[in-house]
Amino acid sequence: MTLLEVRDLTVTFDTPDGTVTAVDRISFDLRRGETLGIVGESGSGKSQLVFGITGLLASNGRVTGSARLMGQEILNLPDAKMNRIRAEKIAMIFQDPMTSLNPYLRVSDQMAEVLVHHRGLSKQAAIAESVRLLDAVRIPEAKARVTMYPHEFSGGMRQRVMIAMSLLCQPDILIADEPTTALDVTVQAQIMKLLAELQAEYGMAIILITHDLGVVAGSCEETLVMYGGQVMEQGTTEGIFAGPTHPYTMGLLKAVPRLDRETEKLETIPGNPPNMMNMPAGCPFVPRCDFAEERCWSERPVLTRAEGYETRTRACHRSLEELK
Ligand SMILES: Nc1ncnc2c1ncn2[C@@H]1O[C@H](COP(=O)(O)OP(=O)(O)O)[C@@H](O)[C@H]1O
Ligand SMILES: [Mg+2]
Repeated sequence: MTLLEVRDLTVTFDTPDGTVTAVDRISFDLRRGETLGIVGESGSGKSQLVFGITGLLASNGRVTGSARLMGQEILNLPDAKMNRIRAEKIAMIFQDPMTSLNPYLRVSDQMAEVLVHHRGLSKQAAIAESVRLLDAVRIPEAKARVTMYPHEFSGGMRQRVMIAMSLLCQPDILIADEPTTALDVTVQAQIMKLLAELQAEYGMAIILITHDLGVVAGSCEETLVMYGGQVMEQGTTEGIFAGPTHPYTMGLLKAVPRLDRETEKLETIPGNPPNMMNMPAGCPFVPRCDFAEERCWSERPVLTRAEGYETRTRACHRSLEELK
């Protein structure tokens, strides 16, 4: 069975200037042990998509559509039920570890609290399990460090503590929202490697959110490319790298350093991500697209299967031939 089945998920916010659609009818399937990449520039709606699924939207936000976890609808569940799912089934890690760690509590105390409360362990067993998990995320001298406070760890180590926290209840799904964005390149690579190792060990599925298409290359089977709250292109990561079918993906790819071809210079897409308060009637990418024609401004392209591809979908009026 599909672990998580998301259909037409839409997130809107009520603002003094009207309703903003931050996530617009997104669908995907996540299978056990699989990694899904969600890629797009800042402001594309990536975080709001997963906040919608996990019930973490701001109070002016609303989510519609469907998200089924092992067959059970989880959208708009009562708080108590959603808290339980977030503690036991869907864990999240963020760019800033301090959003998940309490600065005033020793790591041992915050980890043990979860283990005692959700897994019914004794305090002593909980501390032992906390040490085991700090070991699992390759924190040296875990036994000595478990009683430290979060600020006593370096940035990369603190990220590992947060990952250990997310594993406390053996989640089915780990959502990693820009987990390496604040780290330097070497530490980034270590954290990505760690996530892959933990996934192999614990078998959880991962949703990896990033603004950097390069990050999904080595780690995600499937990738969903978002822009302006909408899916531009969706398919296997390998396929997308081998042959992107959307001008936005093509633009993102030009900014990724590649080993397999000589890159003269890395280009970023000119212009700015869209303002959700003021979206074009047609394709959200139209003001920045080199291939835009008249109907791109007025008609929104529908996400459909890319011609000649079995598993790829794309939302673009221009034919693949025209994008060459
Ligand atoms: N509480 C809110 N009220 C109104 N709009 C919001 C709110 N939270 C987020 N948004 C809108 O959602 C857009 C997408 O945000 P987000 O999902 O955080 O982007 P990212 O892809 O960088 O994670 C923002 O640019 C903003 O327009
Ligand atoms: Mg975000």
